[in-house]
Amino acid sequence: MGLGSNPNGRVEQMKIFLDTADLAEIRRASEAGLIDGITTNPSLMAQVAGKEDPRGIFLAICEAVNGPVSAEVVALDAKGMVKEGKKLAAIHENIVVKVPLTEEGLRACRSLRGDGIRVNVTLCFSAVQAMLAAKAGATYISPFVGRLDDVGQSGMELVEEIRSVYDEYGVETEILAASLRHPRHVLEAMLIGADCATLPPKVLYQLLKHPLTDKGLEQFMADWKSLGKEL
Ligand code: G3P
Repeated sequence: MGLGSNPNGRVEQMKIFLDTADLAEIRRASEAGLIDGITTNPSLMAQVAGKEDPRGIFLAICEAVNGPVSAEVVALDAKGMVKEGKKLAAIHENIVVKVPLTEEGLRACRSLRGDGIRVNVTLCFSAVQAMLAAKAGATYISPFVGRLDDVGQSGMELVEEIRSVYDEYGVETEILAASLRHPRHVLEAMLIGADCATLPPKVLYQLLKHPLTDKGLEQFMADWKSLGKEL
C-alpha cells in the first residue's frame, strides 16, 4: 500500500501542520512549502503574545500561511465558546475554531458548525470521545499522542482505533494527530492513515535530516572541489 492508494480511498498525502504561534517559524516553514496549515493552543499563544493582542497574532499567522489555522477558545461554557469562536472566525477565512473535548465543547462545536464555522476538537484521549466529537460535526479531531505515551499508554494505538472506527462508520471528520514528539511518531501517523499531523518546528526539521544525506553531500562537494572547475 502506498501513499495515495490506500483502501479507504484517500488520495491526498497526510497534511503537515506546524504546531506553533511563532511567526518567524511559521514564515520560514511556509515559504519553504513544507506546511499545509497551523495549529495553536493557549499555551503556545502565551509563549509569544507578550503585550500584543492575540487577534493580531492570529491575523498575521493567517496571512503567512495558505491553509487552516487552529485558534483555541478559552471560555469553559458553550455560550462563551461560541461567542469567542465567532469572533475568532471573523478574523480570517483560514481560522478553524478549536474547542476542548468536553460536554460544553461539543455543544459549542455543534453550534459553530451550524453556522458553517470549521471546528477542531482538541484534547482527545479515547476513540469513544472521538466518536462523540464526530457526532457533534467536528471538522478535525486532535488525539494527543505524546501525552498518552507520557502516562504509559500508546498514543498511536489511539490514532489507529480512531481510524478504524471512523472508517467503519464512514465518518468524515479528519484525524489530526497531535502532540507528536519525534519523526517516528510522524511516520506511524502516516502509516495508519491519519489525515493530518501537527508537529513542533523542531520535529519538522528533524524529518529532513539523515546522517547519510549529510555525509553524501560532503563527499560530493569534496570530489567536485578536487576537479577545480565551475558550473
Ligand atoms: O497540538 C497539541 C500539542 O500542542 C500538544 O503537544 O507536546 O504539549 O503534548 P504537547
